[in-house]
Amino acid sequence: MHFLLNQNSTPTTLGEINPNMTVLEWLRASQLVGTKEGCASGDCGACTAVVGELTIKDNIKVVEYKSINTCIALAFSLIGKHLITVEGLKEGEVLHPVQKAMVIENGSQCGFCTPGFVMSMFAMYHNEDTVSLPKINEALSGNLCRCTGYKPIIAAAFSVFNEENEKPLDYYQKNQEKIIKSLISINDNENISLIFKGDKNNLSYDAPSNADELANILINNDSAKIVAAGTDLNLEITQSLKEFSHIVSVNGVKELQVINDGEFELEIGSAVSYQKATSSLVKYWPDLEAYLHRFASLPIKNWATIGGNIANASPIGDMPPVLIALEAKLKLRKESKVRIIALEDFFVTYKKTVLEKGEFIESIIIPKPDKNEHLIAHKISKRFEDDISGVCMAINVRLNDDLPSSVKIALGGMSGIPQRALGLEKVTLDNWNDENIAQLAYGAIKNEFSPFDDVRASSEYRLKVSANLVKKSILILKGAAVENLAEINQSNYL
Ligand SMILES: Cc1cc2nc3c(=O)[nH]c(=O)nc-3n(C[C@H](O)[C@H](O)[C@H](O)COP(=O)(O)OP(=O)(O)OC[C@H]3O[C@@H](n4cnc5c(N)ncnc54)[C@H](O)[C@@H]3O)c2cc1C
Ligand code: FES
Ligand code: FES
Repeated sequence: MHFLLNQNSTPTTLGEINPNMTVLEWLRASQLVGTKEGCASGDCGACTAVVGELTIKDNIKVVEYKSINTCIALAFSLIGKHLITVEGLKEGEVLHPVQKAMVIENGSQCGFCTPGFVMSMFAMYHNEDTVSLPKINEALSGNLCRCTGYKPIIAAAFSVFNEENEKPLDYYQKNQEKIIKSLISINDNENISLIFKGDKNNLSYDAPSNADELANILINNDSAKIVAAGTDLNLEITQSLKEFSHIVSVNGVKELQVINDGEFELEIGSAVSYQKATSSLVKYWPDLEAYLHRFASLPIKNWATIGGNIANASPIGDMPPVLIALEAKLKLRKESKVRIIALEDFFVTYKKTVLEKGEFIESIIIPKPDKNEHLIAHKISKRFEDDISGVCMAINVRLNDDLPSSVKIALGGMSGIPQRALGLEKVTLDNWNDENIAQLAYGAIKNEFSPFDDVRASSEYRLKVSANLVKKSILILKGAAVENLAEINQSNYL
């Protein structure tokens, strides 16, 4: 049950801990208090650290370092990985280049957010050879600062990559081989099964390594709760103070990590992260890139899974409308039985799905597009970066000689579930060239949906914006110069 911590050459053990404990709680209990707690919900970035995982690139084992919100990651998820916190950056008394840059550019005032920013920059230092403003904005998209202002921080990020001072290798780059050897020694690809003796009950943690074992655990344990990255589920621990008695991590299940690029279908394992899935999706649906960019912040995107986004069954999840419009199917497994259902039939009512006891999502199967198919997706949210949508719309149109032969539309944020809009599809198909399409669409949507009022948007706004998005999509497909919000260059936001 070991992981590597900072520059320590001996692996660290987590010890006897409650499986509900977060990485942040573990760090602070271990006197590594550079990592701060702000919101405990993944929103402010004060708790950002970096986690390295062994992976294979071009047939060579490498360590991939990614930023993470430690406040909503479970401590047990560190097993077999490398955790780097702000305490691990200095080499002796010499500051890491990203720390130096923050000092020189006056990137810190009260300092509460600073370790988080430094760790996001450290991840960028490892993953990029050059920088640009969009790259910096993305790397820092999960970090909030309330006193310095972002300009000096962005200046620091630029200066680290300043061509005149060639980017020096840091401790982790210089010691990569040693780190890889240590990570290999603590990764045995075995099932992990732990029991913690709590005050009242025993609490269990399982991390199976294959789908058979996962199916077996789920069918034999009534209280088993699946966790993938935990970016939804672990909020129940940190915000609702819930304690799960049996946590089953799917992150080590190898079958759920696979992306199969077949002749007619793209099959994405449910535990594939957003970041990894994005490159496969944009290969076939390039217009999705700007939309997927709007998902959360980089530390969330790095770990959050596609399967978690679907199984969570939130009406405002970003992926379900897109996948419904693409007529995606889900491969569900219970014991050794597999069934395949249309994603649009998966959601029942608010936060309820057709998943049976002991059943899990194995993969998402998406038919590949033919050359006449066009997908447009819109996300309406109050902020550009790191915000949940008020309304999501995905529209998938097959065009023949500039006229649609089929239209598939799905909406998020318009009812208790992500939902296909059958009436709206017909109105759109029948009135493609009608100047009054927005009014016609409004009528069709109002007929089919009764959206809620909440902090993100009023019911009437949701109806109106959805109708306007239909018109906008048609204009985009007709080649009109319409500004697509999802595509606005981030530099406009500086
Ligand atoms: C700061 C922040 C910003 C966010 N921004 C966005 C956003 O912009 N758009 C958006 O859509 N979401 C957003 N989210 C929500 C969340 O990140 C996503 O829904 C994410 O995809 C969930 O994946 P996960 O791996 O973390 O799921 P988890 O939290 O691990 O699991 C979520 C649910 O799915 C179940 N589950 C997971 N995997 C499976 C499986 N294979 N089979 C069956 N059940 C399973 C779990 O039991 C749990 O009930 C945000 C979250 C945070 C904290
Ligand atoms: S404490 Fe705010 S993101 Fe973790
Ligand atoms: S320096 Fe005070 S919050 Fe950023």
